[in-house]
Amino acid sequence: MDPLQFDKIGHRYNDVTNLPSVWLLEDILKSQIGPIQGLDVLDLACGNGYWSRRSIDWGAKKVVGVDISKVMVDNAQLQARAEDPSEFHVVDCIAPFNMGAFDLVLGIWLLNYAKDKTELLTMWQNIFHSLKPGGRFVGVIPNYEILQTTACGQEYHFGGVTYKVLERITEGTRIQVILDTTDPIASICYMLEPGLHEECAAQAGFSNLRWEPLPSELDVDLGPLFFQIVTASC
Ligand SMILES: C[S@@+](CC[C@H](N)C(=O)[O-])C[C@H]1O[C@@H](n2cnc3c(N)ncnc32)[C@H](O)[C@@H]1O
Repeated sequence: MDPLQFDKIGHRYNDVTNLPSVWLLEDILKSQIGPIQGLDVLDLACGNGYWSRRSIDWGAKKVVGVDISKVMVDNAQLQARAEDPSEFHVVDCIAPFNMGAFDLVLGIWLLNYAKDKTELLTMWQNIFHSLKPGGRFVGVIPNYEILQTTACGQEYHFGGVTYKVLERITEGTRIQVILDTTDPIASICYMLEPGLHEECAAQAGFSNLRWEPLPSELDVDLGPLFFQIVTASC
């Protein structure tokens, strides 16, 4: 995988928030995150800073966003409103880092860029070390069950998002994600086995990783969603 593939995607990623699937994700994520008034938030793989800005809208005291792509970080900085208590940095989350201690760490489409156990473990260690005692992690990754039941070479579609299963690898699946924006965006990532996430999270220090069910207030049957929310706390 090209770690800087989002440098080439750049500002085209801004269109993603027009996809119905992202509106659905936002509703579910907001309910999962809950009240964040006055909290310090670290937004890992922040991209163009969409969730950083939403976190401020939802009451965060301060947000630090990091991403491996300088183009995405520049985009996040450009879109930050003058009064936003936010800052953005170029950081690779598969190398150990120290960004300080936060009440809430977000990893929205982060963990799916780890291609093997070594990279996944470093990500989970970075998450653990970035949390204050009592702090919480909320992450979003592709739905593993969907990818397991989609044959190699086949596609799964949901609300403007397409997953094409490219190959099975030792510890999971390599996929192409195509976002049906005005100028469609394609990128490559992975979904490693849930058991491997549990193992790496535990090795990093977490004892309570949870694969979150859909919130109970969502009473329509949407079938399997394209994403899975994962949480853990210190
Ligand atoms: C699908 S985008 C999601 C952006 C944002 N979280 C959102 O949901 O709008 C994935 C982001 O992960 C970033 N990324 C991929 N690998 C990374 C790594 N090792 N460290 C930090 N960021 C990474 C990419 O540059 C890209 O901006």
